[in-house]
Amino acid sequence: MTPIIIAVDGYSSSGKSSMAKRLAREIGYRYVDSGAMYRAVTLWAMRNGLVRPDGSIKEDTLIASLPEIHIDFKVDSNGQSTLLNGENVEHEIRTLEVSSHVSPVAAIPAVRHSLVLKQQEFGNKKGIVMDGRDIGTTVFPDAEMKVFVTASPETRAERRYKELTDKGIDTTFDEVLSNVNERDRIDETRAESPLRRADDAILLDNSNMTVEQQSQWLKDLYNQIISRHENSK
Ligand code: CDP
Repeated sequence: MTPIIIAVDGYSSSGKSSMAKRLAREIGYRYVDSGAMYRAVTLWAMRNGLVRPDGSIKEDTLIASLPEIHIDFKVDSNGQSTLLNGENVEHEIRTLEVSSHVSPVAAIPAVRHSLVLKQQEFGNKKGIVMDGRDIGTTVFPDAEMKVFVTASPETRAERRYKELTDKGIDTTFDEVLSNVNERDRIDETRAESPLRRADDAILLDNSNMTVEQQSQWLKDLYNQIISRHENSK
């Protein structure tokens, strides 16, 4: 079967990473979490004093430093981890502190250009599932399968709150909900590649679906698209 590109975009904490990862495993595709790349750049900025106390970013220094920031992924028995200049930062990039600075970093056009190029390189042989905010619109506008995932902000915050507390991270539901709302606002209103559904993306509102149901929905859609793709050759 000819490999295709699968773009899964959507709102923060909508469960898109879990479903994308699972589909990739089931069909033997590579999975790339583009959000982890923006998170890793944010962590680098935080560690290097480029986030001011008011939350604004020292953009010029960050842009000049981009050639020094290398992001990659490794897969082992613990699953997939994000590497920042060779260091495994998978746990650190998921904290609420990184979440609270990532959207302003991701709004910087030069940061986006650099990461989009890297993401396109990951997909140059197809056979990839990538999740994010602009995969179906900017990174792979010709992707054969595009999905846009959403759920109510409260549902998404509840899921993220559970995920963080399960990992032992100390936070409150209100803190998580306000981060979800704030990131949605910044992601939707930025000038460069704002979060929006591509015209040809299939919408999934998974507010009332279990993880199992949404994974099955995605697999069924993949099967339909792949059979159409094969028949059209
Ligand atoms: O927390 P969640 O899994 O929803 O978000 P993420 O996928 O880890 O992405 C973190 C942040 O990175 C988002 O809130 C966006 O600001 C940014 N992002 C982006 O701008 N473009 C992407 N393709 C992926 C993420």
